[in-house]
Amino acid sequence: MSDQKRGMHGIWSGRWTFILAATGSAVGLGNLWKFPYITGENGGGAFVLVYLACIFAVGIPIMLAEVLLGRKTRMSPINAMAKMTEDAGAPKFFQGIGWMGAVSGFFILSFYSVIAGWSLAYILKLAGGDFAGTDAAFAGETFGNLVSDPVGLTIWHSVFMLLTGFVVARGVNKGLEAALKVLMPLLFVLLLILFGYSLTTPGFSQGVHFLFDFDFSKLSGESFVVALGHAFFTLSLGMGAIMAYGAYMPQDQSLGKTILWVGVLDTMVALVAGMVIFAIVFSNGLEPSSGPGLMFQTLPLAFGNMVGGAFFGTVFFILVAVAAWSSAISIAEPAVAWAVEKGFGRISATAAVCGFAWFLGLGTVLSFNDWSTYQAFIFISEISVLENLEEKTHAAFYLFANTDVLKAEYINTAAVTYEIKGKTFFDTLDFLTANIMLPLGGLLIAIFVGWFASSDMVKKEANIQNETLFNVWRFVLRYMSPVAVSVIFLHGLLF
Ligand code: PHE
Repeated sequence: MSDQKRGMHGIWSGRWTFILAATGSAVGLGNLWKFPYITGENGGGAFVLVYLACIFAVGIPIMLAEVLLGRKTRMSPINAMAKMTEDAGAPKFFQGIGWMGAVSGFFILSFYSVIAGWSLAYILKLAGGDFAGTDAAFAGETFGNLVSDPVGLTIWHSVFMLLTGFVVARGVNKGLEAALKVLMPLLFVLLLILFGYSLTTPGFSQGVHFLFDFDFSKLSGESFVVALGHAFFTLSLGMGAIMAYGAYMPQDQSLGKTILWVGVLDTMVALVAGMVIFAIVFSNGLEPSSGPGLMFQTLPLAFGNMVGGAFFGTVFFILVAVAAWSSAISIAEPAVAWAVEKGFGRISATAAVCGFAWFLGLGTVLSFNDWSTYQAFIFISEISVLENLEEKTHAAFYLFANTDVLKAEYINTAAVTYEIKGKTFFDTLDFLTANIMLPLGGLLIAIFVGWFASSDMVKKEANIQNETLFNVWRFVLRYMSPVAVSVIFLHGLLF
């Protein structure tokens, strides 16, 4: 292969390697940790249905477009978009896709590393047999203790960020490939073992009903935004991660089939994780909507009560950490690749990117303890009960405030209670990236490849043999994805 085709960063060593790397990027905390808890918060089945529709009708077609842009230019997303925009004579703001992606990458990496740190902490807890014969109260308390300790969280966050930086600094071929080849299949096997266990629990069928029976009355405008945003997050779309990996993809590999594989594997992992976690939720009378701690409060119950649980539990949390690791690497890659193109050494580029994200991550660490009451976008609703009818009215909005102060101001009485809902530092970053920046990046990519990039180039590069299939994909990019993303955005803003 000529040097020009390889680009300056290297190339995956075989056709399976791209699938492995892209799956490694896609399958991560998004599937195991985030999907179950946001499904719980958004009422279950109807949310899952919207999420699946977003994956297949919006996400996978955009993924193909994103990988295509990377492979065509073989450069970091920032430079790829600069070059593609110029070649196509498209409006300059499309270059912004690369820049916005880099900013999203910093934001995501900063909190991702903190949560991945939780799984590192859990490896030790399980290995130490902490959860033998445990109950829900103990599991809840253990999690609460972990997140209320900023020093402990910072240590785990630092360890995870160092691990990430270590692999990124070594480049795409060394380290990453070898590890993923063994660990990804192992993750699937362990998930299946957990699935087998969940089949024996009394709450299994209730969990399945929760996940797959749809009741649309449970969906708010925000649920649509969250489902769409999560489709982007879980597929690693809209910020350049998958574009950067596409830049290292061999030229002769078929894009369409490969990407479908990645999308299907990613979805399967999320659904299996969901079934396992909700089986445990309902078997133990837990609250599906208990938020970011859901995975950490449920799975120890399974491991604590099954034969060989300490062993399986330890291995499982190692795999969660590895899945997060292989995703974190891809989150850092776009910014690092850009800095390398600018002339920095790979090691110093990595140190700068990871160092900055580490610093930002301290905000997420604190948002679970010392800063938990400092919130942004606070909506206060007044809930009054009149003749047994509950009425909820909007009482106030604050852009930023300390909720402890607000609680002292809005005092509940027998007739009126106040619900104060805001976003912590972590919630804000999560919302900004997954629900706004990634879909916006994806929307621009769809419009760019659908309308501005030369048809001949797209056709040649996508190399979809079947004419009808190609046309369907183009149609989706041109019309369906932009309309779907815009409608969901507007709906979320207005309702
Ligand atoms: N897809 C990853 C996950 O599900 C997270 C991720 C987001 C990775 C954005 C890269 C880019 O955990």
